[in-house]
Amino acid sequence: MTTRTAQWIFAVGTLSSAIVLGVLTVDTNRQMATLTNADKLTDEVVAGKVVFQKYNCNDCHTILGFGGYYAPDLTRVYRTKGEAYIRKAVTEPEKVFATSFRHMPNQRVKPDEVDKLVAFFGWVNNINNHDWPPQDSKQKGLTGTSRLLASSGISMSEGAALFKENNCFSCHSLGGTGGSSALALDNVGSKLSAEQIAKQIADPRSVNQAAIMPAFMNFLSAPQINSIADFLSKQKGGK
Ligand code: HEC
Ligand code: HEC
Repeated sequence: MTTRTAQWIFAVGTLSSAIVLGVLTVDTNRQMATLTNADKLTDEVVAGKVVFQKYNCNDCHTILGFGGYYAPDLTRVYRTKGEAYIRKAVTEPEKVFATSFRHMPNQRVKPDEVDKLVAFFGWVNNINNHDWPPQDSKQKGLTGTSRLLASSGISMSEGAALFKENNCFSCHSLGGTGGSSALALDNVGSKLSAEQIAKQIADPRSVNQAAIMPAFMNFLSAPQINSIADFLSKQKGGK
């Protein structure tokens, strides 16, 4: 290759990359208002962002990849954990995370500030971020379910797969893996019937008014809820 050819490759390569980058940047910026639902940026949402900054929540938590990596990413917390759980996590972290290894401090956030935070998380939850950053609860579930199923020698049923995919593991544990902010479900089949479990999943507040578990009736169809309930009603092992 002559020096001249190399110079051409360099010039054309650099120029075309720069053009592509420029076009993509402009295109993304053009879509920004739609992707972030800018029209839904109410005063309450903006106030929630201010509260998030005031208490330095992002020293420990990330949203859209920004913040500290000590604590869970909160980009989709509104969808995966629900409003009641967020309120409880912020106002009574010592109860919710009682058995946790890492600690969330109680910063005595005021009730009206909690409302604003919830509005902010609700808005963030609806940003179309093309699934970035990836949420880790599915992976946690994967190891949990795989281990459980491997030990029982069954191939994964629809109910088990749905349990894994719907963040149940982020609060509950099964087979020794999963979250510790709610009860372990290893023995739930001895306590509750499939029907009672289905009711709990669809609308926890119809079972217990003070429930903090999010309702799944708007995310899952009745047959899907029944498959999970069927899977859980067979869990009569453990603790
Ligand atoms: C010193 C670090 C720290 C600060 C500051 C902090 N948190 Fe946390 N937070 C944690 C940890 C650690 C957890 C997870 C505990 C566990 O699951 O073991 C957590 C959990 C949470 C959860 C539940 C997340 C989930 O997926 O279960 C929410 C919601 C939350 N924090 C909101 C907030 C808000 C809002 C603020 C600011 C007012 C805040 N946090 C400040 C450390 C922190
Ligand atoms: C945000 C945390 C959270 C998530 C996510 C969650 N749960 Fe729960 N779950 C709870 C809590 C807390 C309770 C206890 C009742 C309450 O306070 O809501 C509970 C109770 C239950 C119970 C009743 C257990 C008993 O022994 O009475 C079942 C069954 C259950 N959950 C299944 C599920 C399934 C299935 C999923 C996923 C589709 C799920 N949960 C997702 C927090 C959660």
